[in-house]
Amino acid sequence: MPTIVFATPKGGAGKSTSALLLAAELARRGAAVTLIDADPNRPLVRWGGRPGCPENVSVVGDVTERTIINTIETAAQRTPFVIVDLEGTASRMQVYAISRADLVVVPTQGSVLDAVEAVAAVREVQQQEVAFRIKIPVAILFTRTSAALQPRTLSSIASEFEGQGIRVMSVRLHDRDAFRALFSFGGTLASLDPKQVRNIPAAQENASAFAGEVVAILKQQAAAA
Ligand SMILES: Nc1ncnc2c1ncn2[C@@H]1O[C@H](COP(=O)(O)OP(=O)(O)O)[C@@H](O)[C@H]1O
Ligand SMILES: [Mg+2]
Repeated sequence: MPTIVFATPKGGAGKSTSALLLAAELARRGAAVTLIDADPNRPLVRWGGRPGCPENVSVVGDVTERTIINTIETAAQRTPFVIVDLEGTASRMQVYAISRADLVVVPTQGSVLDAVEAVAAVREVQQQEVAFRIKIPVAILFTRTSAALQPRTLSSIASEFEGQGIRVMSVRLHDRDAFRALFSFGGTLASLDPKQVRNIPAAQENASAFAGEVVAILKQQAAAA
């Protein structure tokens, strides 16, 4: 069953947020999800410890570079989706997790400086494809974009990625209070209090479109395989 790995050496790119949004949305659609928190800071384990974690999401934080492959494989037998959130630094943990990925999502914010690191992350995955003679689909995800404007820089960065043969997801995760709030309050977008958090429906729509595109990419890969 598909394993989706969120990876990029850039800290603060939106890996943990995007991983959580995907897990919560797949769970909302009825699928069981294992969320493997491979970041030593354990942001997702802390989220899971707050009230409101869906019953069909299990957060696993007890993972080391020695156990990551086994943890992913065991989880993949138990739940239809496995999502892995990695730490920002290059590590053996990262290499091992990526080696088991059906899709690697590389989140990036829309500046040229960030894009350079995103390209490095994609190249790393491609290097692994060669090293291990396997196919590892990879896609760039723009995060913290503005819902209101479509800056020129963003479209030009996107076309540059595409020019280099790098897949860019058409859904972007906008900068939303609701996405940050998940880590403060726990739970899901549906369980946030509209009195405390603005614009929850727009955030829900965005998260749902994101999960929809991930599922579509996975289906497309599976059909091509
Ligand atoms: N789409 C988003 N909307 C609002 N805030 C976001 C979004 N993505 C990330 N953030 C915020 O940016 C910071 C870094 O995000 P995080 O997901 O922890 O990145 P990473 O896991 O790559 O280090 C956090 O404070 C998080 O709340
Ligand atoms: Mg993180």
